[in-house]
Amino acid sequence: MKNAKTVFECAECGASASKWFGKCQVCGAWNSAVEVEKELEKAEKTAKVKRIAPVYENDVVKFSEYEVGDTARETTGMSELDRVLGGGLVSSSVVLLAGEPGIGKSTLLLQICKTLASEGRKVLYVSGEESRDQIKLRAKRLEGVESAESLYLLTDTNVASITEKADKLSPDIMIIDSIQTVYSESVSSAPGSIAQVRECALSFISKAKNEGISIILVGHVNKEGGIAGPKVLEHMVDAVLYFEGEKIRSYRMIRAIKNRYGSTNEIGLFEMTDSGLTEVPNPSEMLLSDRREGVSGSCAVCVMEGTRPVIAEIQALVTSTAFPAPRRTSNGVDYNRACLLIAVLEKRLGFKFYTNDVYLNVIGGLRLDEPASDLAVTLALISGIRDVPVESGLIAIGEVGLSGEVRAVTEVEKRISEASRLGFTKILVPHRNMAKLNTEKYPGVEIIPVRSIYEALPYIK
Ligand SMILES: Nc1ncnc2c1ncn2[C@@H]1O[C@H](COP(=O)(O)OP(=O)(O)O)[C@@H](O)[C@H]1O
Ligand SMILES: [Mg+2]
Repeated sequence: MKNAKTVFECAECGASASKWFGKCQVCGAWNSAVEVEKELEKAEKTAKVKRIAPVYENDVVKFSEYEVGDTARETTGMSELDRVLGGGLVSSSVVLLAGEPGIGKSTLLLQICKTLASEGRKVLYVSGEESRDQIKLRAKRLEGVESAESLYLLTDTNVASITEKADKLSPDIMIIDSIQTVYSESVSSAPGSIAQVRECALSFISKAKNEGISIILVGHVNKEGGIAGPKVLEHMVDAVLYFEGEKIRSYRMIRAIKNRYGSTNEIGLFEMTDSGLTEVPNPSEMLLSDRREGVSGSCAVCVMEGTRPVIAEIQALVTSTAFPAPRRTSNGVDYNRACLLIAVLEKRLGFKFYTNDVYLNVIGGLRLDEPASDLAVTLALISGIRDVPVESGLIAIGEVGLSGEVRAVTEVEKRISEASRLGFTKILVPHRNMAKLNTEKYPGVEIIPVRSIYEALPYIK
């Protein structure tokens, strides 16, 4: 090619440089330089503008006179997913669902087809990863999907032919599983490369915007946990959802990283079973189901997962040590935070933790990264070292400072409501939070303000 000159592009963010680089100057990724031909890129770019730029209305309008059409939201049949989306799938939106292999992306999407492909809406499921047989076999396991009336299947990876076949069918909703497997003939690089992902995503986005189709794209996740492909993909779509499986170990969690139609604080919880993903609408009930009252070293704890309060149990096992340096292990509580709280209890209350090993565990694999769980952790520790249970029906909310003071926390009302819903009758809250609380709202619940951990001690007996 005439004047062909090679440039290097970052595979993570798409930034280009004239020389090879070990670390990307823009996003800081290591070893992400890939060689691309500039002339070719140029030709692609000009072609792209002509071919697939989304056609938005391009007249000037008076803002006050402009009326929006109704942004119809379609329920996906999974209220956990609907909540993360901000109330359902918005028509002509493009959603990117990202997650590690095997987490259940294809399963989830096939399951929501059951509801989406009802009431006369056509859903086209495009798979570039699996054969028809594999998809059909999976659908057999999932209740109601096999008989979904207006669900269509296409196994294809060529973006032009997908678009052509979709035009013939004119679906209302399209699912592309996954964006890394589709390719465009006008780009020379391999499927999954930045140029390909960008080009294919653009053509799906313009299709969604021009024709009013809702599109869900599946995205792979790279070694570092980011979405494989250029960062621009995240900027191009309307919502980015992450499907993860670590936080509550035996469970799957979906969270929004970006959402143009809703909050990004919400999470959705699922459990993977033989018959696909089932929703977990009440995580607290599930996490507390095996709890035994009257056992020492245990205290209920409340953390906020987005806008939803989740109650779990924290356990502390304190045993006398046989080692010169006592052991401390902590599962679900930050190790340094646990050491700090133990030090506060040694210094301020004189407990001899230095002659004891301490094992901390949060039930259900939940991670307490909020300081509001401090008070519950300290009560579990005290109850553990004294070998005396905390009072039955007690839950503790509050941050503990270095002098043993209990500090105010956010969203205390939501936590109290959830605790009283689950039958807790004594709730320790920071004194500072008391002023704004309407205690009459919770009949039968004793809300006890505490200024410091000393004041919480009588509740362990
Ligand atoms: N017969 C089965 N019984 C229970 N779970 C299964 C079965 N087959 C697959 N799974 C679960 O489904 C997961 C694969 O889901 P899939 O939707 O293909 O993931 P992804 O599309 O994210 O790669 C597996 O990791 C496994 O946990
Ligand atoms: Mg899959």
